[in-house]
Amino acid sequence: MIRNTRMIRNIIPEDHNFIMQLSRRFNRFGPYERIFMSMLNGIAPPGVTGNANLFIHLNTAGQQTGFFALEKKQNVGNILGVAVDENFRRQGIATLLLKHAEEIARSQEISSLECNTAETENPSALTCFVRYGFVNMGYIGRYPEGQRAVRLRLELEKTIAHTSTK
Ligand SMILES: CC(C)(COP(=O)(O)OP(=O)(O)OC[C@H]1O[C@@H](n2cnc3c(N)ncnc32)[C@H](O)[C@@H]1OP(=O)(O)O)[C@@H](O)C(=O)NCCC(=O)NCCS
Repeated sequence: MIRNTRMIRNIIPEDHNFIMQLSRRFNRFGPYERIFMSMLNGIAPPGVTGNANLFIHLNTAGQQTGFFALEKKQNVGNILGVAVDENFRRQGIATLLLKHAEEIARSQEISSLECNTAETENPSALTCFVRYGFVNMGYIGRYPEGQRAVRLRLELEKTIAHTSTK
């Protein structure tokens, strides 16, 4: 059940510390802290060639709860990361962030949203994406520490938009 009113916006400089702290959660899957730091500094990280933006969710108390990064690469929306602060998990915030990514993608005529995640080492993320409607396209390589990575895809042309409220 969602207990937070939706409030998602583009990041502002005051959000940088929150994003850097939260992005450390990704470090076992690669240099995500550096990737997001580059983005915050307006520098395209290695491998990110499309237009990438960060968005943050704030709860009704104005607390930063989670963020996502979306890269637009031709007609694909590449989700570079989604993360929710431990204190606010299992409240539907990642789902809200994915809905926002979907709305942006649809408004920009992006035909699919895609993301990488670990096949077995990050079950909360895999479940969250699959529950949302992403399809597991299978193995695409390994993260730097050897974990198997899978590619997830949500075809927007073939699916009905998720509504804004759950
Ligand atoms: C993955 C993550 C973003 C989920 O955030 P969240 O806000 O807790 O997710 P939601 O509340 O929207 O959960 C949606 C669904 O995902 C699944 N899910 C989420 N966390 C789960 C967990 N710990 N265990 C099992 N299922 C889980 C559930 O099916 C859940 O629905 P339910 O609560 O109604 O059962 C969060 O755990 C996180 O920030 N992890 C660290 C960063 C990360 O690994 N990001 C993904 C890589 S891109």
